[in-house]
Amino acid sequence: MELVTMKELMEEAHRGHYAVPAFNVCNLETIQGVLEEAEEMQAPVILQTHWSEAYYSTPQTVVDMVRSVGKNKRIRAAVHLDHGSSYEDAVRCIQGGFNSVMYDGSQLPLDENIRILKQVVELAGYAKVTVEGEIGTIGQTSEMGEKLEKSYLTSPKDAQKLVDETQIDCLAVAIGNAHGFYTENPKLDFDRLKEITEVVKIPLVLHGGTGIPEEQIQKAITMGVCKVNFSTVLRKSFISEMQAFMEADPENLGLMDILDAGKNSMKAAVKESVEMCMCQGKL
Ligand code: 13P
Repeated sequence: MELVTMKELMEEAHRGHYAVPAFNVCNLETIQGVLEEAEEMQAPVILQTHWSEAYYSTPQTVVDMVRSVGKNKRIRAAVHLDHGSSYEDAVRCIQGGFNSVMYDGSQLPLDENIRILKQVVELAGYAKVTVEGEIGTIGQTSEMGEKLEKSYLTSPKDAQKLVDETQIDCLAVAIGNAHGFYTENPKLDFDRLKEITEVVKIPLVLHGGTGIPEEQIQKAITMGVCKVNFSTVLRKSFISEMQAFMEADPENLGLMDILDAGKNSMKAAVKESVEMCMCQGKL
């Protein structure tokens, strides 16, 4: 396995007109599931942990697991902090060996978001680590409606200011996407995305990949999205399969068998996401 920066993976994706999928992982089995499927499909991938997933063990444990599982596999991957909540999260993850970090200051006033992102970019520069920022708030699907659709969407003008002033490597945008299962088909705001791409010239990131129809994901990719995040869909398939396995054979206390069932089911979701991002065979 070659650990490469997310910046490098996204630039290749941009040139090749595909996106790199970023999968949330939190333990050995989720890391195995992503890397085994990535090797099978010869697809570049990003393994990412929300800050809470990084601290479920430690950032260094996450990186050690990725290195160990990836050893002797023909793959290229980056390890990324998803929705870091503070400068300190970035420090801890970079110290642990992450080669990419997100600082999510989207809930803060713009100037405060910019101030902290600048500090993260300076720190990351010394360590040659990629930085993702966010502007506009990518909320939860439970907040869909007026709130998510209007006031929280990314303003192209603010996005331009944030990127110009911070020099981040990539930007997460809110264009009608949200985390979790959508209760109705989302409709990404492609006019807004176009306006953003006219003033922001770095790779864009689409969060909330679970449940966005394939044609919308692929249209967003053709317009400049280079990374798409998937989490809920993986957890759902992992957990549902474990539940089914345990219901079918309640006396079986083979923990490895139960986890293995979950992991194998999750791999189907990884495969589907790789295909949506059109990155199979793009190593
Ligand atoms: P989903 O859980 O909706 O797939 O979103 C994942 C994500 O964007 C993580 O940051």
